[in-house]
Amino acid sequence: MEKMKDIMKEKLLEIKEIALKNIEEVKSLEEFEQLRVKFLGKKGELTKVLRDMGKLIAEERPIVGQIANEIRDELENAIAEVGEKLNDELKRSKMNKEKLDITINTNEEIYGHRHPLLATVEELEDLFISMGFSVVIGPEIETVENNFDALNSPENHPSRDMSDTFYITEDILLRTHTSPVQIRAMKEMGAPLRIVSAGRTFRFDDVDDTHSPMFHQLEGLVVDENISMANLIHTLDIFIKELFGPDMKTRYRPHHFPFTEPSAEVDVTCLKCRGKGCEACNYTGWSMELLGCGMVHPKVLEYCGIDSEKYTGFAFGMGIDRITMVKYGIDDIRLLFENDSRFLEQF
Ligand code: DAH
Repeated sequence: MEKMKDIMKEKLLEIKEIALKNIEEVKSLEEFEQLRVKFLGKKGELTKVLRDMGKLIAEERPIVGQIANEIRDELENAIAEVGEKLNDELKRSKMNKEKLDITINTNEEIYGHRHPLLATVEELEDLFISMGFSVVIGPEIETVENNFDALNSPENHPSRDMSDTFYITEDILLRTHTSPVQIRAMKEMGAPLRIVSAGRTFRFDDVDDTHSPMFHQLEGLVVDENISMANLIHTLDIFIKELFGPDMKTRYRPHHFPFTEPSAEVDVTCLKCRGKGCEACNYTGWSMELLGCGMVHPKVLEYCGIDSEKYTGFAFGMGIDRITMVKYGIDDIRLLFENDSRFLEQF
């Protein structure tokens, strides 16, 4: 009968041979890890054989033990070597993949450019800066107080309804116009004052070609001694001529805003027909409702701590989206917000 010692020796040598052959053929890190566990792991082949050491007589144990240790060392070294090689290969292939080809040649230069809305805002701001106005900004999330109360809007006014306004809480809302910036400016800076403020505004509107729940306004405010309606008309007149051309005219129609008295809506010469009358202006020669304006209501001045006996003021508000659409001949407001590059690249 073959001795136990010889059986084990043979078994160990067989494991070594198979293991070395397998190690040579390893191709991936996963395969490598499986192999390591299979031969050297706690439940691996080598350990399995060594478990039978107890069946050997005392003198044989060190002999088999020595062979087992030598094989273990050999396998460990071989496996470590392959592991290193695989890791190196992985690193190298990663680096090759991430290599930048700095010699690549492209003649195609793609330039970004301003969104037509932003271009309009900047043009409007520049025009008012040239007339001595300062540019200020206000938050899109406002208090009901600044958006309505301070602007003399009565509690029962329809614009305060849940169906027209996005309320966040009972006292906080998404501003429905840029007029609350007037309140902030007067409270913070007092009189005299000459500011414009552009930004986003929000109303509970269904989307169509002229309506969007998010739109843009520019607000203007002048407060000083001896400010009159004549100053308002002159300022807006010059502004419209600078914006659209020297042949442009303005027309003031009486209107009502709670925060101005008197109030007016401003029509300007139709840009399509330059006043001759066309389909776009219903043959009136006028573009309607581009601007609202008026003399600041004394109650609004007083609310902000400004002496309405000493100071008077005028204010105006305009729809930036409308102006952009008229200026660039855009007939659908949704195009401004879809960010379709085929549309935007035209400007
Ligand atoms: N806030 C008004 C609106 O959203 C526009 C407006 C009208 C602003 C008259 C003003 C103003 O400052 O004086 O319709």
